Amino acid sequence: MVELPLRPCGVLIRGCGSATPSRSISNEDLGQRVETSDEWIRSRTGIGARRVVGTNESLIDLSAAASSAALEMAGWPAESLDLILLATSTPDDLFGSAPRLQSRLGASHAAAFDLTAACSGFLFALITAAQYLRSGAMRRILVVGADQLSRWVDWNDRRSCVLFGDAAGAVVLESRDDGQDDLLGFLMRCDGSRGEVLQLPQIKTHAPLVGEATHQCGGFEPIRMNGQEVYKFAVREVPAILEALLDTTNCQAEQLDWLLLHQANQRILDAVAERFSIPKTKVLSNLANYGNTSAATIPLMLDEAVRDGRVQPGHQLASSGFGAGLSWGAALLRWSGPA
Ligand code: ACO
Repeated sequence: MVELPLRPCGVLIRGCGSATPSRSISNEDLGQRVETSDEWIRSRTGIGARRVVGTNESLIDLSAAASSAALEMAGWPAESLDLILLATSTPDDLFGSAPRLQSRLGASHAAAFDLTAACSGFLFALITAAQYLRSGAMRRILVVGADQLSRWVDWNDRRSCVLFGDAAGAVVLESRDDGQDDLLGFLMRCDGSRGEVLQLPQIKTHAPLVGEATHQCGGFEPIRMNGQEVYKFAVREVPAILEALLDTTNCQAEQLDWLLLHQANQRILDAVAERFSIPKTKVLSNLANYGNTSAATIPLMLDEAVRDGRVQPGHQLASSGFGAGLSWGAALLRWSGPA
């Protein structure tokens, strides 16, 4: 039985990590598969290459590598974790891949489960983890965003296959009762009525069971996307939710050190930055190297910027995740880093 503190606790981000598959596929490489060009892909999306999981790698390998790096940065043993949240839409096991990650890490005291919210998944998982930490019910949580969309992309559909890649990113969070807090505000939204513009749907095939009865067969169709509708959704909703976030947290755009958005398309990043008059130098982007890695983009980008020294302790970041569902969210974060 956990004894809960009387006042809500703060949440500190103590470490981050990431991992990407070794194989990089350039735009020129993709031109061997579909009718496209480096010029088309770069000018419409900002993407130059993407990583794709190969035969000797898996989603769990990437997740474990990212998680180990985050734990190492924080200086925490895996046994000290209370919970592992794995945000993914592409698990190795539909029953959940988080328990496998828990076992790989040796996080023997941690509960573990998957959370599915497509490209909003990491942000939704971070916010969910924060509630366990705020209540004081848990002290240390690992949040992972990992996706292997290369499994579910139609590699013959040039309108979508050029966008996606595989990766994993992770952060470790700590509950604090001394007034410090790195989650300064958040908002979450969903509109299932518009979900058909971006789907990875279950196949409709049915097979005979007994007598007249049939059962639906397992399996999924490839990703179906209406790119223009997704684009319109992103450039309308992301600035709106960020504006609401800044209002509710009494934060001015000038006070932000970084804009840390889901990496879907450079044109979306540019449109959001322009809306808030945020200089491009403050907009984190690694689309050129990795494309859209779904739930992994935000922690992958954060890890890169922390490790190369752009993001420093005390920096404030406005983050927004958005994607299939449709779902979208935003959080005002501070980076504390290791104690
Ligand atoms: N190479 C060359 N030509 C192409 C390609 C390609 N890879 N893809 C499409 N085209 C062609 C089309 O066939 C079309 O030709 P046509 O006019 O002869 O029919 C032309 O280019 C224009 O196509 P559009 O679809 O209008 O291109 P658009 O400017 O809208 O750009 C894009 C497409 C890049 C997909 C854009 O709509 C976009 O970025 N949308 C957002 C998508 C996104 O971010 N999805 C992920 C969301 S996050 C998640 O949850 C997974």
